[in-house]
Amino acid sequence: MISRRGVIASAVGVSAVAALSACSPEVADLTSTPEPEAPATSTPVAVAKTSDIPIGSGKKFDVEGVPILITQPRAGEFRGFSAVCTHAGFVMTNMANSEIKCDNHGAVYSADDGSVLSGPAPLALGKVTVTVEGDEVLVSF
Ligand code: FES
Repeated sequence: MISRRGVIASAVGVSAVAALSACSPEVADLTSTPEPEAPATSTPVAVAKTSDIPIGSGKKFDVEGVPILITQPRAGEFRGFSAVCTHAGFVMTNMANSEIKCDNHGAVYSADDGSVLSGPAPLALGKVTVTVEGDEVLVSF
């Protein structure tokens, strides 16, 4: 026979296990640069005109629900990156002086290759393939 105290103790134990399971943080994979979550198609998508992307800076776009950054670190050279900061997932929009800055905790990335210039970001930005056809900037994943 189970006492009332035993039933309560069991219920508390089950609740504590469930609460601990719900609270345990996911372990981030810090060994590789995350790639942007790919949309349903890998067909290149026209996102902008070349003249829309400022030299030494860039712009943020949402391509089929995926936030990306298109940069132009030097005249005529276009790059594409995930807009999601590798530190804590903030979607970045702040680009100037050929740098991408996360306004959440201050990480700075190169607008040329997506590498981390200063932390706390642990990894470079995921890259997006950028092609230029005429005056159109296209991206594919
Ligand atoms: S989320 Fe970007 S630096 Fe923390």
